[in-house]
Amino acid sequence: MIGVFDSGSGGLTILDALHRHMPEQDFLYLGDHANAPYGHRSNEQIVEMTRTNIRTLFEAGCSLVVLACNTAAAVALRTLQQQWLPEAYPDRRILGVLVPMVEAITGVPWSQQHPGEVISQTPRKTILLFATQKTVSSGAYLEEVAKRAPNIRLVQKACPGLVDAIEGASGPRPLAGLIEGYVAEALEDAGTRPDAALLGCTHFPLVRSYFEQALPQGMELLSQPYVVANSLADYLRRHPELRAHADREDVRKGIGKVRLLTSGRPGDVNLSGRYLPPHLCEFEGIEA
Ligand code: DGL
Repeated sequence: MIGVFDSGSGGLTILDALHRHMPEQDFLYLGDHANAPYGHRSNEQIVEMTRTNIRTLFEAGCSLVVLACNTAAAVALRTLQQQWLPEAYPDRRILGVLVPMVEAITGVPWSQQHPGEVISQTPRKTILLFATQKTVSSGAYLEEVAKRAPNIRLVQKACPGLVDAIEGASGPRPLAGLIEGYVAEALEDAGTRPDAALLGCTHFPLVRSYFEQALPQGMELLSQPYVVANSLADYLRRHPELRAHADREDVRKGIGKVRLLTSGRPGDVNLSGRYLPPHLCEFEGIEA
C-alpha cells in the first residue's frame, strides 16, 4: 500500500493522478487538516508534524509514503530521510514532489547532478513558481534548479492565504481575485513574458483554472500531479518490492483501494467534492 501525505486536501491532486496512473495500487491518504496550513509554521514544527503523520501511514501498513506537500518536501524531507528513516523504518521509503519537478524543469535526472558540474543544456528561459511562503523562503527550488540548469530563471511568488482560502472553500470570486493579484505581481517581477509557470503547492491545481485565466494566454502551466505520477510509476517499475502484491483478485483486475484519513473532523473536510471525483471526498477520522 502506498501512503500519500499532505497538510490538508492539496495532496488529493497528487493522489488523483497517482490513482489514475496506477489503478492497481492501494493508496492510503492522510491530510493533517487539524494542523493545516503548514506554510507559516516553523521548520521544527513542520519536521515534527510530517514525521508524526508519516509514522501513522507506516504503522497502517504503507511501504512507501509520497510527501504530496511541497512545503513539507522542501523543509522536512531530507532531514527525515537522512536522520530518521534509516533507524526507525529502514525498509520503508519516503519520496517528495519537489525532485520530480526539478527533474522535469531542468531535464536532468536527480542522480546525475554532481556539485559544480553543469549538465543541462536547457536554453535560457524564465519560469514562474507559485508556492507557499515556506517553500519560497526555503529556496529549495531555486537552489536545485540553479545547480542543474543555470540558464533557467525561476521567479518565485509566495501566495500567502491561498491554501487557507482553498481549504476554507472560498467562493470563486475571492479565489479568482486573490490569484489574479499574485499572477500580476509575479509577471511584474519577471519583467519579460515568462516561458512557463509552475504551481509549486499541491493545493493550487485545485484552482488551476483561475491561474489559467490570469496568466497570459497560451502560457504553459506545468502539471505537478502528472509529473509526480509518471515519476512514481517509473520508481515502482524499478522497485517491484514496494508495489501492491498481485495475489488479490481485485488487484489483478486493476482495482486498487483508496482510503482517505484526516487528523481533523471528517465532516469539516468539505472542499474536495467541488473539484475532485467522489471517491476522493470521503474522509475518515484518523482513529477510525
Ligand atoms: N499542499 C501544501 C504544499 O504543497 C500546502 C502547505 C500548507 O499547508 O501551507 O505546499
